[in-house]
Amino acid sequence: MQNQPVLGIDIGGSGIKGALVDLAAGDFAADRVRIPTPAESTPANVAAVVAEIVAQFADQMGDGPIGITIPAVVTHGVTRSAANIDKSWIDAPAQKIFAERLGRDVVLVNDADAAGVAEVKFGAAKDHPGLVLMTTLGTGIGSAILYRGVLIPNSELGHLEIDGHDAETQAAASIKTLLGLSYSEYVPRLQRYYERVEALFWPDLFVVGGGVSKDSDKFMPKLKLKTPIVPAHLRNRAGIIGAAWLAVDKQSNPDPLG
Ligand code: BGC
Repeated sequence: MQNQPVLGIDIGGSGIKGALVDLAAGDFAADRVRIPTPAESTPANVAAVVAEIVAQFADQMGDGPIGITIPAVVTHGVTRSAANIDKSWIDAPAQKIFAERLGRDVVLVNDADAAGVAEVKFGAAKDHPGLVLMTTLGTGIGSAILYRGVLIPNSELGHLEIDGHDAETQAAASIKTLLGLSYSEYVPRLQRYYERVEALFWPDLFVVGGGVSKDSDKFMPKLKLKTPIVPAHLRNRAGIIGAAWLAVDKQSNPDPLG
């Protein structure tokens, strides 16, 4: 694909992480950098931190676009939601704010979408020929739908209403921590969530990312689903790798809607 490394940046609630990605290898080209997310995480404050990260790598990458993930719906460069981030992101022209602050092209994408792309291109669902549904279990629940390798963006299945609740308030990994649940206490919540998603989307494969995916042996075998379910391979590298992949892809396939 691309010989020169591409910078991917992952904006999270507690840290903003960046790394150069070797897209031929599908992995980091060098160690990542992490800077804490500013307490007041407005677009301008976050863009200033992103600029610090970009400055650290500027002499090692080309002048192509960088990929940035954000835990929000992103349509045509505009952030449209803010479930677990500062509300000032809602309807902010975020991609433009980053591009202006950085003086370079930026491709801004939802965090789970980026992770899903990375898992399908390089990870647990590499070259999968069917319908893959990636979920990330973290502070919230993120989702990515990919059919034959093509992303259907902004699926937001963490916010399905299940049993009268916003699903992520019952089944995100942060709820396990908050309530001090053991894995056997957490499994029924995951079971309810995944069986509902399965009944609505009928994927060929579930991929589970987020910190808990490293403990997959403690919960995955206990889930009774019709769909195969596997842990993510790229763990916390997935967002950065997927963002870099999408940045290059969008350069050759620009968004006709802006
Ligand atoms: C947000 C999603 C995000 C997910 C994981 C959800 O609360 O609505 O956009 O992908 O959390 O960060």
